[in-house]
Amino acid sequence: MTAFAIAPETGAHHSDIDALHAEAFGPGRYSRAAFRVREQGPHDPALSFVSLAEDGETLLGSVRLTWIETAATGAKGLLLGPLAVKDGLKGQGIGKALLRRSVDAAREAGAPYILLVGDKPYYWPFGFETISRGRVQMPGPVDPARFLVCALQPEAADAIGGMVRWAGKPA
Ligand SMILES: CC(C)(COP(=O)(O)OP(=O)(O)OC[C@H]1O[C@@H](n2cnc3c(N)ncnc32)[C@H](O)[C@@H]1OP(=O)(O)O)[C@@H](O)C(=O)NCCC(=O)NCCS
Repeated sequence: MTAFAIAPETGAHHSDIDALHAEAFGPGRYSRAAFRVREQGPHDPALSFVSLAEDGETLLGSVRLTWIETAATGAKGLLLGPLAVKDGLKGQGIGKALLRRSVDAAREAGAPYILLVGDKPYYWPFGFETISRGRVQMPGPVDPARFLVCALQPEAADAIGGMVRWAGKPA
């Protein structure tokens, strides 16, 4: 097993994270619906984390959170992703450690919900549920079964609706 630590993302990690995204998602990543939301504005570095090797420098994985809102209701929350772990290091708990840290950070930041596009079997142990079909959209096609939400406050999942778009960090 590889020893690793979770740390806040800093600017020093950006080029390694770009390379990790290229490795994990390939050139098609730019056309993904969630990417189109994320290109509308920056992620929140205070809520984004890296997994580092024992040397404290080598990047093993990354997860980012970006503030969003849903256009029909104005419900503000966070979009999780990309979550990626380097090839050759998968299956050692790095992804789940990053996910746990980001969910905890989102809760501490007072975010009402976290939305993501992903595989439910991986995310449901962290409280992510399928969103009812048609309730939210993104600027690109998304398999409805992969729209997942984790409510961090009561009723937060019921408040979302419409097109997902980037939103600034709440004041
Ligand atoms: C998905 C990803 C982040 C998981 O990271 P990881 O460090 O390998 O995950 P962990 O070690 O914490 O967890 C591994 C477990 O999750 C399972 N798992 C991994 N990907 C899964 C998926 N897409 N759906 C369901 N289960 C999955 C593994 O089978 C393993 O199960 P086990 O513990 O019962 O053996 C990593 O595989 C990755 O970078 N994939 C490419 C990018 C990607 O698809 N990101 C997710 C976008 S939604």
